[in-house]
Amino acid sequence: MTTQQKKKRIWNFSAGPATMPPDVLEQLGDDLLDLDETGVGILEHSHRQPTFDRVLGDAIESCRKLGEIPNDYEILFVPGGATVQFSLIALNLIPDGATADYPDTEVWSAKAIIEARDAVPTATIAVPFEGKKFRYDHVPVDGEMTPTPGAAYMHYCSNNTVHGTRFHLPPKAAPGTPLVCDASSEIFGRPLDWNKHALVYASAQKNFGVAGMSVVIAHREVLRDPVRRLPSMFSYAAHLGAGSRINTPPTFAIHTAGLMFRWMTKQGGVREMERRNDAKAALIYAEIDGSQGFYRGLSRLECRSPINVSFRLKTEALDQTFAQEATNAELDGLIGHRDAGGIRASMYNAMPIEASRALAQFMRDFAQRHG
Ligand SMILES: Cc1ncc(COP(=O)(O)O)c(C=O)c1O
Repeated sequence: MTTQQKKKRIWNFSAGPATMPPDVLEQLGDDLLDLDETGVGILEHSHRQPTFDRVLGDAIESCRKLGEIPNDYEILFVPGGATVQFSLIALNLIPDGATADYPDTEVWSAKAIIEARDAVPTATIAVPFEGKKFRYDHVPVDGEMTPTPGAAYMHYCSNNTVHGTRFHLPPKAAPGTPLVCDASSEIFGRPLDWNKHALVYASAQKNFGVAGMSVVIAHREVLRDPVRRLPSMFSYAAHLGAGSRINTPPTFAIHTAGLMFRWMTKQGGVREMERRNDAKAALIYAEIDGSQGFYRGLSRLECRSPINVSFRLKTEALDQTFAQEATNAELDGLIGHRDAGGIRASMYNAMPIEASRALAQFMRDFAQRHG
């Protein structure tokens, strides 16, 4: 009997933790009791024994294969969500007295700015684009941003989970300034040009599994050379030197990530994920655009995210009614982030197109009933 037969599942549009493929959940269920026919479950295996060596090795290898990650880039699994990386990046990469550029495109990049300032008060965190002035309705277009010459790096959030905007191309930093990317809500949802980036990171809780862990993918030289001495858990060099096992690592999250990477590869890989994500988003944007203003998107057309589709109805009360009726119709997790309000449909890699079809149909029916 499969998980879906045993348990009722509904469409979950949550922004994260987010929906997972039933196949992977089934495998995890089996592995909780007995991993690799050892008679010991994944939660119970020592992180220093050969079975976990296998799990960690597979997770790294399957991540590299899925993302087509070059060999001079290292893959780290680091405890804590992307919020932890907000501080670690600054601590490891900005020297005292230097400047790093942080275009502010939304809630998450704004939080990254605050954390970087707290982490390295001796550095300058410059904000070459202030999206708040535009209610975060777009990411900077050419000429809208003045990068700092000689900045240690430019940090940007490639897909803005709350307002539903996306950089279709990486931003233009000053010549010679490396890019650092928060790809939490879209990693492995489209191909990424690794060579343009010094470091890319993502929280696991959206596209590859369990909350409370991040993947950090960075050029070896960037990880090896921290700009200051740091306690081991804060140091990328220490994580690299210990092979993501400074202490007891989040073993279940790493195993889940490995299964998710393999699942995505089996589905056809990153390009297929992108094709599916575009198709899912197109269904929802078609409802917004065809609704004669009943639904209003939060993002400008040219930088719409295919992953997080954010929109509003005429009043907050109607937003609430929409979300409640949707839940009653087994379409859950649609209420927008507290900072943006409205409605948000998050459709990560594991979300099947049937869910988007069901939501599109619901949106049409709702507009007819309430329009
Ligand atoms: C783009 C982005 N960055 C960072 C975070 C923070 O992740 P975490 O809560 O795992 O620290 C989120 C969470 O949703 C996010 O969407």
